[in-house]
Amino acid sequence: MEARRVPPSMSARRPLQGPIQGERIRSMVERDVEGVAELEAAAFGSPWEAATFRRLLGRSGAELLVAEVGGELVGYAVLWCILDQGELANIAVDPAWQRRGVGGRLLERVLERARERGVTDLFLEVRESNAVARELYRRRGFRQIGVRRNYYDSPREDACVLRLEL
Ligand SMILES: CC(C)(COP(=O)(O)OP(=O)(O)OC[C@H]1O[C@@H](n2cnc3c(N)ncnc32)[C@H](O)[C@@H]1OP(=O)(O)O)[C@@H](O)C(=O)NCCC(=O)NCCS
Repeated sequence: MEARRVPPSMSARRPLQGPIQGERIRSMVERDVEGVAELEAAAFGSPWEAATFRRLLGRSGAELLVAEVGGELVGYAVLWCILDQGELANIAVDPAWQRRGVGGRLLERVLERARERGVTDLFLEVRESNAVARELYRRRGFRQIGVRRNYYDSPREDACVLRLEL
């Protein structure tokens, strides 16, 4: 089924009760990019451009995944791999779909793909104030190994550097 953005009135943007299990996680393709860039702009103060996702689609070391529910794009993740090192470079879920387990299942798929590629150490940076993301990573075994001072803009903030041994 082709992934597409549906108008808010037609989408499942009404509050749902409890977790959802029905999302499909698959590789990102060119036609996802505009929708992904929209989610990116909603999620981050300094968002990546659509062109960045497009460029990464052609790179052999990059894994780009999307989560969709009934054909609606609800989340995405980007993993970079160089030999046995990986970096979770990006992950986000549509605010209307957060806190229902999609981010966790996307992350698990990223870990699976990283293992398949022979990654043994996976790294990421996360804003110090991003309690939800930090908890998500902590529960999957990531541990903090350092801090990058003033790493982020809009607003300026330190990054926690996390590592997971796969
Ligand atoms: C981080 C993000 C991807 C999580 O997506 P999500 O679909 O909401 O995630 P889930 O519902 O799977 O899980 C949320 C986790 O947060 C935790 N959590 C829930 N409420 C929380 C709270 N009030 N405080 C701290 N952690 C909380 C839960 O423990 C849950 O972990 P679990 O799956 O182990 O139970 C999503 O919040 C997002 O897109 N944020 C904006 C972009 C972003 O910050 N990306 C990460 C950049 S490093």
